[in-house]
Amino acid sequence: MSTLIVNGGRELFGEVSVHGSKNSVLPILAATILNAGTSVIHNCPKLRDVYAAIEILRCIGCEVSFEENTLTIDSKNVNNCEIPDELMREMRSSVIFMGAVLGRLGRVSLFAPGGCELGARPIDLHISALKTLGAHFREEGGAIRCEARRMRGRDIVLSFPSVGATENAMLAATACEGRTRIINAAREPEIEDLQNFLKAQGAEVYGAGSSTVTIEGKRPLSSVEYTVIPDRICAATYLCAAALCGGRVRVSGIIPEHISTVTTILDGMGCDIRIDEKSIDIARRGRLSAIRNVRTMPYPGFPTDAQPPLMALATRCAGTSTFVENIFDGRFRHVGGLIRLGADIKIEGKIALVYGVERLYGSNIDATDLRGGAAMVIAAMAAEGESRIGEIHHIDRGYEKIEESMSALGADIKRR
Ligand code: EPZ
Repeated sequence: MSTLIVNGGRELFGEVSVHGSKNSVLPILAATILNAGTSVIHNCPKLRDVYAAIEILRCIGCEVSFEENTLTIDSKNVNNCEIPDELMREMRSSVIFMGAVLGRLGRVSLFAPGGCELGARPIDLHISALKTLGAHFREEGGAIRCEARRMRGRDIVLSFPSVGATENAMLAATACEGRTRIINAAREPEIEDLQNFLKAQGAEVYGAGSSTVTIEGKRPLSSVEYTVIPDRICAATYLCAAALCGGRVRVSGIIPEHISTVTTILDGMGCDIRIDEKSIDIARRGRLSAIRNVRTMPYPGFPTDAQPPLMALATRCAGTSTFVENIFDGRFRHVGGLIRLGADIKIEGKIALVYGVERLYGSNIDATDLRGGAAMVIAAMAAEGESRIGEIHHIDRGYEKIEESMSALGADIKRR
């Protein structure tokens, strides 16, 4: 397995352009199943999860080609409703194919999804949303079999604004007769991107970004060409790396408003931040101050995915920072690796207390999950001495060649 070798202590200078959003392109790839035509997707990142999604698309009958950062999917011959366990295990987003395959073929058979182990990651909200539209579920030898002879639009009320459940409901509702309203829908930018893709196909969807998304189903869908939004969490990761290592960095090709909760915190910690239309410049003036209360919340609150990289930054701040993880019940798995690098962190349930230290020291650590792994990389880049980071396949799920982007900014980081 590959390892990242990092020699820390170097400041970062220059510009990094952010690739397309993993959490946007994955539901959009599922949505390409809905039209029996061709979908051309631009700004598609080269990530493990994207390759996994391509395998699922091919498994159900799509023809897929990937040139540079453009994916072309021909969904004319979608004919297989069975997604095998080994493809489902690859990532959490595999569950998003449930609504799309059900919408296209009227039935789907799949297994529990894989993905980052961030505590329990049930799919009860996904299933109850599809049941509301008329789908019937049964378990058979570990497989989830779902049929819907005739799905009709209904009001779906989500008890929690789940991103994935909102996306699954939008995908299935596009194929339902009548109106579907998703109440208490997730408001993340990736939901708006999915709505815009569906509308580009010819679907009638509106309200994404608010708590109620409405779909007028069964509109004729056609071939489409679309460009995916930039990855806001990668942008946040690079900003935290620059604040932690010092120097001056421009993060470009982004939508700054998507990470305004992150830039507000970085500003409050003492970073120099300049926000332009599609880029953010960041520099650090001396030692940063601790962050009082970082509470992860559904969008537009502080994003849970930015909690690990911000915590890596907090390890070197003056004072005690407090993180409250309200979204996942197991999203502090990166703390062990940060402590091995010299951080002083105490966990009390869903609260992490980060006592700032003067220095971090290189060590051998293993990535535990996607964003936790990225947090370990940026902490190692600020540590004195050499670090070896294993299990980096987690990081490759969401960051396109992270070592190349960081090296281009001046970090000493290599993949072995
Ligand atoms: C999406 O995951 C993202 N993944 C996650 O990013 C992100 O952290 C999360 O949304 C929250 O923003 C993708 O988009 C591929 P949820 P998802 O459903 O859809 C509970 C990354 O690093 N829940 O909003 O799985 C769940 O357990 C990844 O890029 C249920 O209880 O998130 C969690 O506590 C990590 N039942 C909370 O809701 C359900 O049926 C939020 O989950 C579904 C979710």
